[in-house]
Amino acid sequence: MLQRDRTYQLLRNLTSPVVAITSERSGKENGMISDAAVRASIVPTVPRLSVYVHKFNYSHDMIYATGRFALHLLHTEQFDVVRRLGFFSGRDRDKLAEIPHHRGTLGLPILDECFAHFECSVANVMDTGSSTLFLGDVTAVGTGKAAGLEPQGELLTATYFRSHMPAEWRKEYEAKLEEAQQVAAEMSRNIQPVVWQRR
Ligand SMILES: Cc1cc2nc3c(=O)[nH]c(=O)nc-3n(C[C@H](O)[C@H](O)[C@H](O)COP(=O)(O)O)c2cc1C
Repeated sequence: MLQRDRTYQLLRNLTSPVVAITSERSGKENGMISDAAVRASIVPTVPRLSVYVHKFNYSHDMIYATGRFALHLLHTEQFDVVRRLGFFSGRDRDKLAEIPHHRGTLGLPILDECFAHFECSVANVMDTGSSTLFLGDVTAVGTGKAAGLEPQGELLTATYFRSHMPAEWRKEYEAKLEEAQQVAAEMSRNIQPVVWQRR
């Protein structure tokens, strides 16, 4: 195995749980999947998280323009949500049409079913060339419509998703990943300083 491939495989241990990111702009709703999200504050009075979103994803433009997104931790029975939101672009279809959801306090689509959700207002951004790291102030939380105060089910980790995804999805998943890697490779070295103005 080449050293660069070994590095990439080892870095896969640093991926986050599988999350669904939703956005809304001028009435249009969208959602995508990421496994690059992390808690970004240890201060209970200043709850924050961050997530990397590729610039070529439709969600990127929606979040960048509005300064708002909702991040959902998913549970292990939600593979269908990962496929619907993560394998296709909102440029081509209304991906949330068949996923039950409601509007949250920031006007964002909130999935009725999830492990937990966080509504966020973007506090700052960092350009990576191919993606933007969004730092979000968490302004509201929930644990799914049917749940009580505690999350239900088992958290969907990236490792669990990769090892349990239906065999017939794997080819498509790997082809999409490879395509994204090629586009990202061309953009990655062009990092621009950005001053974020709150929307
Ligand atoms: C398991 C999984 C993890 C993903 N992780 C990321 C990620 O960290 N960042 C990202 O920008 N896209 C990620 N994607 C890809 C987007 O979810 C995908 O490109 C989606 O179609 C974008 O939708 P949009 O164009 O409607 O925004 C991931 C997809 C899957 C299935």
